[in-house]
Amino acid sequence: PLVGAAAGQIVVGDSTSVNVFKAVVAATRLAALAGGGRDEILVDATTFPTDGYIAASAARLTGHRIVPVDPADVPAALGDRTAAVLLNQVDFRTGRLHDLPALTAAVHAAGAIAVWDLCHSAGALPVGLDEHGVDLAVGCTYKYLNGGPGSPAYLYVAERHQAAFDSPLPGWNSHADPFGMTPDYTPADGSVRGRVGTPDIVSMLTLEAALDVWDGVSVDAVRAKSLALTDFFLECVEAYVPVGRVTSVTPVAHAERGSQVALRCDEAEPVMSRLIERGVVGDLRRPDVLRFGFTPLYVGFADAERAARVLAEVLEEIPAD
Ligand SMILES: Cc1ncc(COP(=O)(O)O)c(C=O)c1O
Repeated sequence: PLVGAAAGQIVVGDSTSVNVFKAVVAATRLAALAGGGRDEILVDATTFPTDGYIAASAARLTGHRIVPVDPADVPAALGDRTAAVLLNQVDFRTGRLHDLPALTAAVHAAGAIAVWDLCHSAGALPVGLDEHGVDLAVGCTYKYLNGGPGSPAYLYVAERHQAAFDSPLPGWNSHADPFGMTPDYTPADGSVRGRVGTPDIVSMLTLEAALDVWDGVSVDAVRAKSLALTDFFLECVEAYVPVGRVTSVTPVAHAERGSQVALRCDEAEPVMSRLIERGVVGDLRRPDVLRFGFTPLYVGFADAERAARVLAEVLEEIPAD
């Protein structure tokens, strides 16, 4: 329910990076089943780096060509040669929310397979994987799903693709009879064919506890709080921070905003170190972005106000360049 997927389509395990590899290679194989001649993989040019590195390797292995493209330009870049498209629902640097329904529809209209990375959206906003007909998706559980450092990632395989989903990492644990130990590989039915080897049981158990917290929580309510938090943080920044020291690169429009605020700041590096020393833990995105993530389940409005206030104090201490 957290990502709008009916039961039986998500398998939890491995890292997001590994799941990106499975998804991209499997997407090219699904595309090939529908007809030949598709030799391009479109990849979000602003992607979190791991997706780009892994898609490039997947392309080399499968004989495809990578076409880097800004998400907004995907519709124009699609064509008969497009096999698969790998996109992030929310940009990890700016917090921009891309239009998953429209982009997925455009990918399908071109006859290609849509693979979405949900790392920065799942647990912060409604995703609607089934509703929008997404083919494959991956994501982590250690951001808005609160699974804890190093908690396992997940892979979504839409039910209609499961019988043809051909994993590039067919391990014993995705076998139809894992303990049969047969020399031949027969994939399990359903999304569990996305498994590989031994699961990370300790991390799975902490994740299970983290997910229990979501029972009875509506993602729409979480989204409403997330937007209220980021709006309020931006208001506090405007009220406290001297004009010109930071500029938000996060879209103002709610329809284009994830659950983070990214502020461009010339002194970003020393500023983030001082913020962290004072308990305001954000991320530095070099060279000049301060990123603040708002996890609605446990970040409150007082936290947002304090973060902006401490930011203003730190900027007083660190003169402008
Ligand atoms: C959008 C995105 N994709 C992929 C990854 C990589 O995830 P992992 O380290 O679990 O492989 C991250 C990590 O932060 C991410 O933000």
